[in-house]
Amino acid sequence: MISIRKPRENDAYGIARVEIEVWRDTYPTLLPAEYLVDRLDIARVAALWARRLQDASFKHYCRVAMDDRDGLIGFITFGTPRDPDISYDGEIYEVYVQSDFQNQGLGKLLCCAAARGLRQKGAQSLTVEVLEGNPSRFFYEALGGKVARRKNRPFAGLRLPSLIYGWDNLGVLVTEDTPG
Ligand SMILES: CC(C)(COP(=O)(O)OP(=O)(O)OC[C@H]1O[C@@H](n2cnc3c(N)ncnc32)[C@H](O)[C@@H]1OP(=O)(O)O)[C@@H](O)C(=O)NCCC(=O)NCCS
Repeated sequence: MISIRKPRENDAYGIARVEIEVWRDTYPTLLPAEYLVDRLDIARVAALWARRLQDASFKHYCRVAMDDRDGLIGFITFGTPRDPDISYDGEIYEVYVQSDFQNQGLGKLLCCAAARGLRQKGAQSLTVEVLEGNPSRFFYEALGGKVARRKNRPFAGLRLPSLIYGWDNLGVLVTEDTPG
């Protein structure tokens, strides 16, 4: 059975494991190899997550997806928009699902949980930024996101084209039975 919940301090390694697996699958064709080296170091990424999960002032909220048998298999982070000029009041920063659990509705479930978390904090609209070359952009389109803006995002010393998707009403992502 799969459930969605808030992360605990001892989830740092599980989150890092999923993040690294997804980065390994997704970003080698999108980002320079030298940038990926640091991002794929499990000890470094797990230590970073451990610090974040212990830091009450860290305002990237998180939900994790747990499988009874396989443990932590996905996560999402969200909060206030990083770009102060953006006209939405909530942002999904990242959503990652372990590859063998993709295309089973889990990404959608995590976005629902994030939308619900943002709504509890008073947000009504939602945005997400994705590199234009990332096929996951079609996931956001399947969830009803509309391209609100295009920009060139400074990334690892490059400027990469990215898309800003928006939902004017994040309530469309929230269903009554959304867990988390
Ligand atoms: C993007 C991601 C989170 C989607 O999670 P998922 O569990 O595979 O997606 P779901 O099964 O919940 O799919 C929900 C809907 O999106 C569609 N969808 C998902 N990925 C898609 C893709 N790459 N292209 C087209 N449609 C896609 C599904 O068909 C489904 O449509 P439906 O509701 O009409 O049936 C996952 O593929 C992932 O972790 N990708 C790598 C990391 C990444 O790039 N994250 C986004 C950038 S932060």
